[in-house]
Amino acid sequence: MTPQHIAIVMDGNGRWATKRFLPRLAGHRQGMESLRRCIRACLDRGVAVLTVFAFSSENWNRPADEVSGLMELLASALGKEVPQLLKDGARLHFVGERAGLSDKLRKGLEQAELATAANSRLILNVCFNYGGRWDIAQAAASLAAQGRAITEVSLHQAMAMSHVPDPDLIIRTGGELRLSNFLLWQAAYAELFFSDKLWPDFDEAELDRAIAEFTRRERRYGKTSDQLAPVANGQKVA
Ligand code: IPE
Ligand code: IPE
Ligand code: MG
Repeated sequence: MTPQHIAIVMDGNGRWATKRFLPRLAGHRQGMESLRRCIRACLDRGVAVLTVFAFSSENWNRPADEVSGLMELLASALGKEVPQLLKDGARLHFVGERAGLSDKLRKGLEQAELATAANSRLILNVCFNYGGRWDIAQAAASLAAQGRAITEVSLHQAMAMSHVPDPDLIIRTGGELRLSNFLLWQAAYAELFFSDKLWPDFDEAELDRAIAEFTRRERRYGKTSDQLAPVANGQKVA
């Protein structure tokens, strides 16, 4: 079965560029192309939710020119990509802390969200200035400020990703085997797929490889295999 919600750590842009003796920003620009292709592929495959990690809470620690380049890339993508997303029926959500972003960028994010708010074919969450720890902490702080009890349900509801179900499949490109502060809470029962491809090289074939691997996994949620076997007429089907 196709995963309903796919989340991706789009890693490897810098190495893609360095291998070609290009500036890292050229890798990020090529990464945008790859994202465009990935959105198309998810639309074609009937994926309901695509969540991508575009800029982490920790990415501020990169050289200033790379950080400002990434901010500009997002700002220019807003203008360029929204018309196509509108046509495709994709609804944009930006997930992350807005406080650290410029007023202009914040406005741009809000406008893009508003412009696509009536769409429902694909929900596209772009995690920008996002960290899983930030989300858990901000959710707990908002509950505390309202004097509400902190439970798994209330925390989930207060989180920035509460508008979508948890990811079924998390893909990380670029060969690193870690989450780097992505969807820490929501990853609880996600299937993980690590690809050696650098993000700009991630294509439909690699997405299909991840989906095929996902369909072979048995999601037990703590149960045993036997408990999951389909039952017909009171008899377990072999
Ligand atoms: C991921 O690519 C994009 C961002 C973190 C913004 P990287 O820039 O981390 O690429 P590598 O890991 O250095 O190759
Ligand atoms: C994770 O990649 C963040 C994004 C893809 C936006 P990083 O390149 O920042 O992760 P680390 O530093 O290798 O863990
Ligand atoms: Mg990286």
